[in-house]
Amino acid sequence: MAGKKSGTIFFCQECGYESGKWLGQCPGCRAWNSFVEEPVKVTAKGKRVTTGLREDSTPLPISQIDLKEEDRLTTDIAELDRVLGGGIVAGSLTLVGGDPGIGKSTLLLQVCQRLAAKQVSVLYISGEESLRQIKLRAERIGQFDDHLQLLCETDLDTIDAVVRDKKPQVVVIDSIQTMFRQEISAAPGSVSQVRESTAVLMQLAKVQGVSIFIVGHVTKEGTVAGPRVLEHMVDTVLYFEGDRHASYRILRGVKNRFGATNEIGVFEMQEKGLVEVANPSEYMLTGRPEDASGSVVVCSMEGTRPILIEIQALVCSTNFGIPRRQATGTDFNRMNLLMAVLEKRLGMQLAGCDAYVNIAGGMRIMEPAIDLGIVLAIISSHRNLPLDPKMLCFGEIGLSGEVRAVSMAKQRVMEAKKLGFTTCILPEVCLKDVGQVEGMRLIGVASVMDAMQCI
Ligand code: TYD
Ligand code: MG
Repeated sequence: MAGKKSGTIFFCQECGYESGKWLGQCPGCRAWNSFVEEPVKVTAKGKRVTTGLREDSTPLPISQIDLKEEDRLTTDIAELDRVLGGGIVAGSLTLVGGDPGIGKSTLLLQVCQRLAAKQVSVLYISGEESLRQIKLRAERIGQFDDHLQLLCETDLDTIDAVVRDKKPQVVVIDSIQTMFRQEISAAPGSVSQVRESTAVLMQLAKVQGVSIFIVGHVTKEGTVAGPRVLEHMVDTVLYFEGDRHASYRILRGVKNRFGATNEIGVFEMQEKGLVEVANPSEYMLTGRPEDASGSVVVCSMEGTRPILIEIQALVCSTNFGIPRRQATGTDFNRMNLLMAVLEKRLGMQLAGCDAYVNIAGGMRIMEPAIDLGIVLAIISSHRNLPLDPKMLCFGEIGLSGEVRAVSMAKQRVMEAKKLGFTTCILPEVCLKDVGQVEGMRLIGVASVMDAMQCI
């Protein structure tokens, strides 16, 4: 855009890809019909935007950089602290994304409640709800200390001034899509506004040392830019997911500059806000059918935590020419591949069968370690043969039908033992790592053929 004083540019609302002209499909993220036109103002020549990361710009030798003990503020919500990597880091910018109505505002208000109770000054800024509405929500959640202050505001310059003046330790911005800067002519929620607002907040966080949480709504389509546009700008990205029909919610760390990613926190939405689920395996297995064919328990690692999950399969003969296949909560292509392995290696006749695979409870699991579970569930349903309810399995399956090693086998077996399982089918190569486990019969298998003979 060199030489242009002002004009318009087209942005992809999914990933923020910029283009001088409208495109039907985004070359960046392949989304269709995601480009919108937005006016942009070119800053006057010579005017530079400071990043504000450090006041003077002389480089320092690495050894001279003072590494203070990272200041972490625990929220006392263990599930959240784990996902954050041990607490809120001072001066960090965290994005909490999720579908509308999933519970982002509720979670952050609960964080504010806990922090305020510890005499931490917190400022909750909402651009979506009135003070009364926030108060009503707070009434449901419980008692609040006056260290929590509320503000309804959408103008970021005002917010910037308020934060600099009041100097709170933690600030919550409920939702970035409602915030705007007057300098930018685009509407609130547009890609340029959302980006610019995040940049202002980033600077505020780094210069003032205040920890900021930003709420970002995930939008399927429409006129609002999604949180993916700003993932690269913030320190930590958390996504709040869950089935609208189930009451549990999963907080997943997608990016974290101060800790491990892929950690999850499990919550349950109740009358009085979100409640932590300390033992998700137990929670996920409640309501498991007894003596039903096609039901197998597997153990998947979510970050550093093993979680037991039930996989269900239903295989029945097809009524139409083309069999129906459907995977819910796991990868459809992976399921097709595993069925092809079963046909080829075990000679099972699945070509004339409809097959449905479902991860019970509505969780999404992409880890290959659940392959063995999917395969056994399909075999169990196909033969109408219920499996031992005290048995679980895990292992990745290769195209030759071999069962391959998975990481952290020991932790998986221990989690199963904790929940009363007595038999575990696992990759043969993992047996050595696991060793002897009292009260647990370990069956090492090298191929799907071996696994089939164990059930
Ligand atoms: P909310 O936090 O407003 O969602 P978001 O900010 O992500 O859009 O969550 C609202 C939903 O949660 C709403 O459907 C009502 C429900 N809810 C409860 O079930 N219990 C509660 O105590 C609260 C505060 C909300
Ligand atoms: Mg909200």
